[in-house]
Amino acid sequence: MSVIRLPGLVDAHVHLREPGYEYKEDFTSGTRAALAGGVVAVLDMPNSHPPTSTPERLADKARRAAAKAVCDVGLFVGATQTEQDAYLSAATQACGLKIYVNDTFGSLRIDTLALMHRLFRGWAEQAEGVGYRMRGAAQGIGPITVHAEELMVPACLALSQLYGTPLHIAHVSRRSEIELIRAAKERGVPVSCEVTPHHLFLSSDDLPRLGVRGDMRPRLATPDDVAALWEHLEAVDLFATDHAPHTLAEKEGAALSAAPPGVPGLETMLPLLLTAVHDGRLDIADIVARCAHNPRRIYGMPEPPESWVDVDVDLSWELANSGLQTRVGWTPFAGQRVYGRVEQVVLRGQVVYAGGQVLAAPGSGRVLFVEG
Ligand code: DOR
Ligand code: ZN
Repeated sequence: MSVIRLPGLVDAHVHLREPGYEYKEDFTSGTRAALAGGVVAVLDMPNSHPPTSTPERLADKARRAAAKAVCDVGLFVGATQTEQDAYLSAATQACGLKIYVNDTFGSLRIDTLALMHRLFRGWAEQAEGVGYRMRGAAQGIGPITVHAEELMVPACLALSQLYGTPLHIAHVSRRSEIELIRAAKERGVPVSCEVTPHHLFLSSDDLPRLGVRGDMRPRLATPDDVAALWEHLEAVDLFATDHAPHTLAEKEGAALSAAPPGVPGLETMLPLLLTAVHDGRLDIADIVARCAHNPRRIYGMPEPPESWVDVDVDLSWELANSGLQTRVGWTPFAGQRVYGRVEQVVLRGQVVYAGGQVLAAPGSGRVLFVEG
């Protein structure tokens, strides 16, 4: 047994499904899954039902999270075709603005360049008064985070450069994308990016085995794309799960074209990354930078006092569909042997997870940026 202590992790990309899809996940089940994965703060995406696209809906979501979460939660606002930038007056209370420029689950797709200009310009104007949190502003607003694939990547990079808005590119999956992001960083574009564990540890070669359990957006990419993510790891700022729970009945009961894309990930990220350390592909410092320090810097989240995660890095075990905290009760990594298990999580001096049990009560998590 060899236990090491890590800072409490941040997962900067999760879908906790409330309101609207609580049968998939809610703030309690999703944040319990976070603690089981060593994650003490999550950033929740706006494609709930209704979407988090207005100040009223952000306030409603914040009330739900405050009553139900067991770890800290930051909330994204999201742009829609119809409400456009209706969220702007609540910008400082969100962790950032999410824009979907490619198809995915939900109704938030933005598909004109003209509207993209308006959204980037509006966010930049909002920052004129308060600054960007990542640049050290005391109040400030977060970055624009985009679901942008393929040709949408250069479009978003150009808008970020034009308006000076910090841009965070979610779940990068392809060689063509990471190479462009790396080059943009070298030119000084204010861009950061994240990669999910499923895009690092699975490829299109796994699809025959996984079927719909391997269906998400972006889709699993080719082995060469996966190799590129590892080659350019220096350009990858965050690991984030894109925890996107859907029930197996929904995924397996529909035709593939109608099945909702997405996989849960909160409880498997840290063991998978620690296994990569065991295999000599990563260092512990790579994990701490990408799952704690960098997300806190990019989204402007102070580190909570007296908070840490103890992991047994030698313990070998098999990931399984049973025993998970996520309401959907499955993982695309079931059957995989991993090294490293979360033994204990402490948040603000309280033991919130130990020995496989979540000990924190609903409502003990904080809603970041809203509660001050
Ligand atoms: O696979 C995905 N599922 N990708 C996304 O971008 C959204 C997510 C979801 O909300 O289910
Ligand atoms: Zn997502």
